[in-house]
Amino acid sequence: MLIDPFQRKISYVRVSVTDRCDFRCVYCMSEDMEFLPKKDVLSLEELDRLCNTFIDLGVKKLRITGGEPLVRKNIMHLFKSLGKKLGKGLEELTLTTNGSQLTRYSKDLFDSGIRRINISLDSLDKNKFKRITRIGDFDKVIQGIMAAKKAGLKIKINTVALKGINDNEILDLVHWCGENKFALTFIEVMPMGEMGEKRADQYMPLTDVRNLIQTKYSLTEDPLRTGGPARYVHCHETDQKIGFITPHTHNFCEMCNRVRITCTGVMYMCLGQQDKADLKTPLRKSENNQLLKNAIYEAISRKPKGHDFVIERKQDEKFVPRHMNVTGG
Ligand code: 5AD
Ligand code: SF4
Repeated sequence: MLIDPFQRKISYVRVSVTDRCDFRCVYCMSEDMEFLPKKDVLSLEELDRLCNTFIDLGVKKLRITGGEPLVRKNIMHLFKSLGKKLGKGLEELTLTTNGSQLTRYSKDLFDSGIRRINISLDSLDKNKFKRITRIGDFDKVIQGIMAAKKAGLKIKINTVALKGINDNEILDLVHWCGENKFALTFIEVMPMGEMGEKRADQYMPLTDVRNLIQTKYSLTEDPLRTGGPARYVHCHETDQKIGFITPHTHNFCEMCNRVRITCTGVMYMCLGQQDKADLKTPLRKSENNQLLKNAIYEAISRKPKGHDFVIERKQDEKFVPRHMNVTGG
């Protein structure tokens, strides 16, 4: 069992399987993003061993992220292998995806035991989608989302609220998700990585998003807490949950049950802090997982109490200098 110094039980691990992506979202990557050399990235076998070690240590939920996890070659091998652990220690296996490969993989994902997925979608307007993702194919994503629905996967849409960009689509997104029976979560833009555009300009507080939704829909507080940063409301008209992830305006750290691992095997004990632990070295040093387990225990004993995000209007210097596609969303 993994218990941190603040008596929080670590039951949830998010693992990035690649830093690569077939999109270049403006808030996530620069246009000419350089990706890591393949040798630095953990092999699928190493990722499998790593995940299995966490399951041995009492982790109940795994989320596979990226970059875009489904662009990794042979990724279905990992899902199939981890899926076999469901009901045998592992309670939930899930992923976060941009939706671009779901036409191809939805059925296989369902067959591996995946039941719920998060899909990032910031706009329902083809041109705007292109402006945000730079190179994303909107039609392919919509087809992918519908394929996932058809395969029986429960879908949650994640939308990053961007001032002056998708703020006029908030009500459309609520309506569209309601029609399709998708849950919806809005995310405030977070200061991750160096970016061409000034982050403070894109920042839209979710209180504004919520007020806007309430001009047309009735929302009631939902007590559900998942240990993460989201707060949920129930939307009566659509009978769907709507979540709000507000790292700047609320403190959610006291219930944190998670750690993140990059595709290079670096564990971040907190999304908003620099402290990290190298798991690749102990993973590669010996076939026996004892060194790895020791490294994990040691790192969890350093899990900090909370994060330290700062967004300032005129000065965007205090960012966490790593990109979301490396840490995993
Ligand atoms: N701020 C907020 N959300 C981000 N994501 C990626 N980068 C950022 C950022 N800087 C989101 C993606 C996706 C999830 C994995 O993280 O849009 O919904
Ligand atoms: Fe890719 Fe997601 Fe980053 Fe967009 S936010 S570039 S889809 S990893």
